[in-house]
Amino acid sequence: MAYEDYMLESIKKVEASRPKRIKEVYRRLNAEEITGVLNKYHPDYKKECKREFKFGPSKGEKAPNEFLDEIEANPLINPEKFDLEKVDYDTDVLIIGGGGAASSAAIFAKDNGADVLMATKLRIGDANTMMAQGGIQAADKPNDSPMTHYLDVMGGGHYANSPELVKALVKDAPFIIKWHEDMGVMYDKDPDGTMRTRHGGGTSRKRMHSARDYTGAEIMRTLRDEVQNREISVLEFTPAVELLMDDKGQCSGAILFNMETKEYFIVRARTTILATGGFGRLHIQKFPTSNHYGATADGLVLAYRLGAKIALLDSVQYHPTGAAYPSQILGLLITEKVRGLGAQLLNKEGVQFTYPLETRDVESSVIIRECYERNNGIETPTGMRGVWLDSPLIDIIHGEGTAAKELPAMVRQFKRTDIDIVKLPILIFPTLHYQNGGIEIKENAETAVPNLYAAGEVAGGIHGKNRLMGNSLMDVNVFGRRAGIAAAEASKKTTPGKLTLKHVTEYKKMLEEAEIKTDRVAPMLLPDYRREAVKDKMLELLS
Ligand code: FUM
Repeated sequence: MAYEDYMLESIKKVEASRPKRIKEVYRRLNAEEITGVLNKYHPDYKKECKREFKFGPSKGEKAPNEFLDEIEANPLINPEKFDLEKVDYDTDVLIIGGGGAASSAAIFAKDNGADVLMATKLRIGDANTMMAQGGIQAADKPNDSPMTHYLDVMGGGHYANSPELVKALVKDAPFIIKWHEDMGVMYDKDPDGTMRTRHGGGTSRKRMHSARDYTGAEIMRTLRDEVQNREISVLEFTPAVELLMDDKGQCSGAILFNMETKEYFIVRARTTILATGGFGRLHIQKFPTSNHYGATADGLVLAYRLGAKIALLDSVQYHPTGAAYPSQILGLLITEKVRGLGAQLLNKEGVQFTYPLETRDVESSVIIRECYERNNGIETPTGMRGVWLDSPLIDIIHGEGTAAKELPAMVRQFKRTDIDIVKLPILIFPTLHYQNGGIEIKENAETAVPNLYAAGEVAGGIHGKNRLMGNSLMDVNVFGRRAGIAAAEASKKTTPGKLTLKHVTEYKKMLEEAEIKTDRVAPMLLPDYRREAVKDKMLELLS
């Protein structure tokens, strides 16, 4: 699927303007201009796309409609059907999730003396961590410091971040890189062994460490090995469908559902860590997403039913460069590293219209403006609009072979559709990438619910209203580790009481009192992409 002829016509204009703009540094927007573009073009600023929580600890706060549909859904299980005396698994620490945060938590909980059980909806490693491409931020170079990193994170997040959580992130970051290295993560280095670091959007120092353009996969590979080396039990294809409380008001485990055998398991745990990831697969405002198939907000829903507060979920991250063409990779991530290596953003006339490394929210807004207000985007055969990311600049700036070396996965991904991004630009449009908010946590990852911890994308407050590139891969490690240590320690001082699902019955009462009537059930577990017509046909065949 090479480019269409009319796209190639526009590419000719891109090529014609290249020699002149190669050294052109586009002016960055000032504070006033940033406020202006965000207010006018960022999807978060559309009032009709959000509403208030009607009940519970976040009552009155705003979140996207698609997410609140899940919060306002009925529980998947009938609490009366479960005999909670019949416990299938007893453990010190239950970890729900199978990505970077869950694996880091498992490693540190185990190393701190706890008996650990991991349960995950798909397989260990099926997570956004695995799909992270461009890098991980840590201030470990002589010209940098955790304080400078802190200022970048706070500024990028519009100062809505929790200062304590940001401090934890930036202070632990150099240790995490060292820990990774010791375990065998193969970060990119110069021949003399110096770590190679680059800029990301909104960074004032080059602190993005990478493993080519599959940094997340490289980290996840290592973490998964370490989980396996420790012989930690992992239940795969077995998501949590409800958390358990005990009669002392503590979280005491979960009900799991084996998606293959359709069995339910009752797990009693002294402490529980939620590391279930985010909500990209809810396709907020119908955006395509770069997220993993399992990113369906399950952990947020379960924690809310237990009384945990959800913070800052009114802000969603749209990554500026999702694939807009060809349609089989629509929404997949085109790493920010492409711009970090010098690729510029151009409209259909081959004209550069933005500084390429504005923070993500600003960059996305400017792209949306270029496509939909200024009408300068290229329309695809499926009706998407996009602008060019001039990837051939990478080899021109850094020398032949750089793109193939630095971005091997990206080059290969496009080659499969007959597009050579070393020679031709990439058509991009913003894609739903990250939930900036989540379950409120403290520095040790504890939530407001006793014995319930949360780490990774399911937790909120670290990134304020806009996360910077590479801080999520760091966050899953920092807070996964902190959760693992804290949960292991707390498990030594905890004895679960009598298990109960009373909170589920009470939640149903809250739904009734808020006059919410819906057939929807949650957690969603897996997104449903079948078209309505197909679904109707299936129901007809099954009836
Ligand atoms: O653009 C990227 O490679 C994405 C990184 C991130 O979201 O941290």
